[in-house]
Amino acid sequence: TRGSSLADFADKIGADSASLVEVLFHLGEVVTATQSANDETLLLLGEELNYTVEVISPEDEDRELLESFDIEFGEDEGNEDDLIARPPVVTVMGHVDHGKTKLLDALRSSNVVDKEAGGITQTIGAYQVATDVDGTERRITLIDTPGHEAFTAMRARGAQATDIAILVVAADDGVMPQTVEALNHAKAAGVPIVVAVNKVDKPDADPTKARGQLTEYGLVPEEYGGDTMFVDVSAKAGTGMDALLEAVILTADASLDLRANPKQNAEGLVIEAHLDRGRGPVATVLVHRGTLKVGDSIVAGPAFGRVRAMLDEHGENIEEATPSRPALVLGLTAVPGAGDNFMVVGDDRLARQIAEKREARERNALLAQRTGRRTLEDFMSS
Ligand code: GTP
Ligand code: MG
Repeated sequence: TRGSSLADFADKIGADSASLVEVLFHLGEVVTATQSANDETLLLLGEELNYTVEVISPEDEDRELLESFDIEFGEDEGNEDDLIARPPVVTVMGHVDHGKTKLLDALRSSNVVDKEAGGITQTIGAYQVATDVDGTERRITLIDTPGHEAFTAMRARGAQATDIAILVVAADDGVMPQTVEALNHAKAAGVPIVVAVNKVDKPDADPTKARGQLTEYGLVPEEYGGDTMFVDVSAKAGTGMDALLEAVILTADASLDLRANPKQNAEGLVIEAHLDRGRGPVATVLVHRGTLKVGDSIVAGPAFGRVRAMLDEHGENIEEATPSRPALVLGLTAVPGAGDNFMVVGDDRLARQIAEKREARERNALLAQRTGRRTLEDFMSS
């Protein structure tokens, strides 16, 4: 019942809102009937009036919204026979300045796909690299998540987005607060971790110390009998890149069944979005399942539209994006949020309806937040 007003609530339980306002007043809460009531207030009321009040999470609420349109999100992979292998989606995390961005740059320039392509256009914050493992070309999708907050937002609504985390630890600094935070996020999301011990070129680098420290946090290196792969790298010198990519593939093969159905309507996650002067709203999306095609009607959080064009990490036009493929999408009517889900729906009208409902909901939630909870004391002192 997030963001609903007291009057809505009164309707639901068949009470009149004036008496609810009165009950709340006696409990020390000043809320008007038309105001959005927050969760605690409604729970309080429920308790007082002997009603069971259920607070629905935004995720569940959205699922309900989609179900009201007969749409299931993130549930079904369809026919088992249609499943194909997909590349692992890898997020690079770690403490500030430990070299996440530098490492991504190094991985990008040392990989076989980009050698041919030459200069790389940094149009999107996610890209695929390819590496040779036992004579087979294996692709890996890397997501650039600069700063810690971006990853949190992503985790909140799309723990499914990341298959593996590369935890970057600078060998001179060792384990730092955000290293621990990052590894806790990955653990909470059930995501396997590969550790990149970075900056081993530095004179004061101590990769052994970093291993010892992480062991205390439950990441025990394979060479100590544990099951976490540690790879020494220097993003600056470009050393250890192949070993790191191989460790990612080995970890994926050992613990994950990475398959998806490319034949269904595409759905996935918005990684980043912004308003581009010339092109309008542009969103980097990551396809989880299905195949996203130019011309598809999509809804992405509170935004919707028809895919006008798609670009890959080289800035080249692509017609479709298969599972685990990141793509820059043009054609949305608004800028969705990082971490919002996107999905292809039957037609533009449906996309618009879903987007409008989501927008209304967000507006309400915002109102509820802004209005907040005012206690009697606040009221008296204002
Ligand atoms: P935030 O995004 O701010 O959290 O930092 P980051 O983890 O992305 O670090 P970034 O890649 O920006 O690197 C931080 C600094 O460390 C830069 O000055 C890099 O040049 C330097 N650096 C990164 N990797 C290495 C390395 O392997 N060796 C050495 N010597 N310096 C490195
Ligand atoms: Mg960075």
